[in-house]
Formats: sequence, C-alpha cells, structure tokens
Amino acid sequence: MITTAPVSSASGFASLPHFNRPTYLMCPPEWYDVNYVINPWMAGNLHQPSRDTAFMQWKNLYQELQQIADVRLLHAREGAPDMVFVAHAALVQHGVAAISSFTHPQRQTEEQHVRQWLEDAGFLLWATPRETSFEGEGDALFDANGEHLWAAHGVRTCKISHRHVSNAWHAPVTSLHLMDPRFFHLDLCFAPLNGGYLLYFPAAFDAASRVKIEAAYAADKRIVVSELEATQFGCNVINSGQNILMGKVESDLAKRLTERGFDVTELELSEFQRGGGSAKALALRLSDMNVTHGANTLGLAAEV
Ligand code: ARG
Repeated sequence: MITTAPVSSASGFASLPHFNRPTYLMCPPEWYDVNYVINPWMAGNLHQPSRDTAFMQWKNLYQELQQIADVRLLHAREGAPDMVFVAHAALVQHGVAAISSFTHPQRQTEEQHVRQWLEDAGFLLWATPRETSFEGEGDALFDANGEHLWAAHGVRTCKISHRHVSNAWHAPVTSLHLMDPRFFHLDLCFAPLNGGYLLYFPAAFDAASRVKIEAAYAADKRIVVSELEATQFGCNVINSGQNILMGKVESDLAKRLTERGFDVTELELSEFQRGGGSAKALALRLSDMNVTHGANTLGLAAEV
C-alpha cells in the first residue's frame, strides 16, 4: 500500500527522487548505546560502547563514505539507541522506499523518524503491515544490477513480507532461510557486489537456500567467507562501484577482494559491532543500484 505520493506531475513517477551520484543516508550515534539485548552480539555488551569512540569511528566512516558518495543525514533521537543502524529502516530503489516494520518494540520507535525523512525527501512510501516484520536492507538486498531481490526470513523478517515488499517494484524475489542467530540479518552473511560477485557465509543458510544462491552465482563469482571472518562482520560491507568500506577483519579477506578488483578500506568499527552491526548497517542506500554499484566499473564484461 502506498501511503503517500508527493508528486507534482500527472505521470506520478516523474518527480520521484533520483540521484546521479551514489547517495546514502546515515544517522549519527548521538544516542547510541547497547541498552537491551535483541541479538547475540549485544549480550555481555550492555552499556559497554564508549560514546566518544563510537562517535569517532562513525565520523571516520562518514568521511570515508563522503569520498565516494553523497551522504545525507538523519537526526538521531533520544530513546532510539539503534537508530544509527539506519540501513534496517527501509529498502530503497527507483525513488520508492519500502518502510520497515521492526520485529522488536525497542526498534519500532525508529520507524516514524525514517518515514518522515523519506517522505520529506520526496520518496514514495510503501508501508509494511505491523504484523509482518520486515527489516529493510538488513534482510532484503538487490542484486548489483538492481533487478532481482534477495530476501531473508527465519529470525527477524517474516517470509510473507517478501512478496509484499517485492511488489513495490514488481521485482522477482528469492527467499532465503537464515539458520544461525548470530547472523540474524541477511546483510551479516550475504552481500551482492559490483561485477556480479557475491560475498557470503554459506553456513548461515539452510541447504535449500544455498542451492538457490549457487544457481544464481557461478562458483568463480562467489567469495566465500569463513566463520571467523563472518563473526568479524566480514560480509557487512558498503560497496559502491569498485569501492568497499568495511570493518577490520583479521584475515586476508581484504586481499581476496582486492585481487578481484576492489578498492578496500578497512575501518575500526568495534563499538558498533558490540551492538551487532558494522559498516553496511550504518548507511542506507538511497541511489539506485546501477548508480551506487556502477554498471560495470570493475572493467569486466557486463554480465546482465
Ligand atoms: N542492535 C541492532 C539490532 O539488533 C543491530 C543491528 C545490526 N544488524 C546488522 N545487520 N548489521 O537490530
């Protein structure tokens, strides 16, 4: 259901926001903390993040992202400590924003603020019913060409939301079943990358999901991360064109990505990892996939 259509032309879609440059939304960690436990990473980390360090780390990511993209800002709100993980609040493509319906009441307070920002920015809003949990880019990611949607269920997002959300773009959707509570969101174990690559942790999925993934991505396009790398948030990367911004991973993962043509920047994001997220979770993509990922900027033959 479309709840608002801030359009000025008869065709409706003519005035939807369009970005010619990679563009993201971020939310500063003004009120960030681990105040409750809604994922296994938060356990043992109650009130552990340092405000100062978190702000420094966030600012670093913000400045790095500004080197490769435009970054818009959403005001943080008191009482919404996880709002910094703004990628989970919506999924955006073609000027349409499918708004999340968070599973946990602790995060539901974020919804109104993100909705307002997106509405003010002119996006067409696609609401998700309260009873069908959907957690935005946390659990739904487009292929690098922006045509196919991958959506996860099993922990947060419920499977019946997949069809509803994909209908916002009439996009084909493939459902994937998450099996491991440590990887409670798709963006913790699955990242479609520029050039038709996929960065993923296979053991986070059930067997049927792995078959679907392997059918869509040829073996030489699949970059498999180890359990150790996955637990260091190795899949939670921001990819724009050939650039990858990611939290530090103590392995040769950055080298493996570099060998495939990516320009990798590793950042210290420890304070956010205490809350269960890393680079990818801190930025919501606003520009279309073909703008953000660049159609073919790795210099590879177009695959699509
Ligand atoms: N505390 C947040 C939550 O549990 C962290 C989310 C991080 N998730 C992620 N996909 N990186 O909702």
